[in-house]
Amino acid sequence: MLKDVAPLESERLRVRPATVGDAPALFDAVCRHDEVTKYLTWRPHSEQAETEEFLRLVEGWNAQGQELTCAVVFQGDPVGLFTMRRPEAGAGIELGFCLGPAVWRKGVMSEVLSLALPALERYCPGERIWATTDIDNVASMRLLEATGFTRVGVERGRAVHPNISTEPRDCVTFEW
Ligand SMILES: CC(C)(COP(=O)(O)OP(=O)(O)OC[C@H]1O[C@@H](n2cnc3c(N)ncnc32)[C@H](O)[C@@H]1OP(=O)(O)O)[C@@H](O)C(=O)NCCC(=O)NCCS
Repeated sequence: MLKDVAPLESERLRVRPATVGDAPALFDAVCRHDEVTKYLTWRPHSEQAETEEFLRLVEGWNAQGQELTCAVVFQGDPVGLFTMRRPEAGAGIELGFCLGPAVWRKGVMSEVLSLALPALERYCPGERIWATTDIDNVASMRLLEATGFTRVGVERGRAVHPNISTEPRDCVTFEW
């Protein structure tokens, strides 16, 4: 089960399954910020209850085992989300991630990936590990390139990112 991949730990980070109890911290640090959701598939949360509702769903998905969404805890505080997901059998593991703006450019997501990638390789050797990102999401593309992912192509109209447009957007796929 994917849930065996966590927790992951370093001196300053702990990546462990997200719970409803993380709602106050994650609403404040992450989910309410439109800079965070700009290129994501969801809109910023306008109240903490929305984050609670989302995390309740996450707890259910985590329990089912096809997906594991973790809280990224940096120096003791939940500051982001990191998802590992099997979209369907044989499709490998898709990664998704976001952090609150207060911790951007501190190497946090690079460190999360440096912990998660070897753990995923041990968990599912030889499987494809991949991520897609909006074609304009420079931060995400640079992060993926900087952590050893290879850009494999552009998929036209792959996903709606509603904070930019209601039209499906082109996305870039990266593989590790
Ligand atoms: C993408 C995101 C997770 C990056 O996390 P981060 O912890 O700030 O990234 P890191 O500090 O580990 O950066 C690693 C490298 O990625 C690149 N990078 C990260 N943010 C960047 C930015 N805003 N602009 C350009 N390059 C960037 C840099 O090469 C950086 O190395 P450097 O700081 O030594 O130059 C963060 O910006 C975020 O949460 N954005 C909003 C949500 C999102 O778009 N998620 C991705 C969905 S596909």
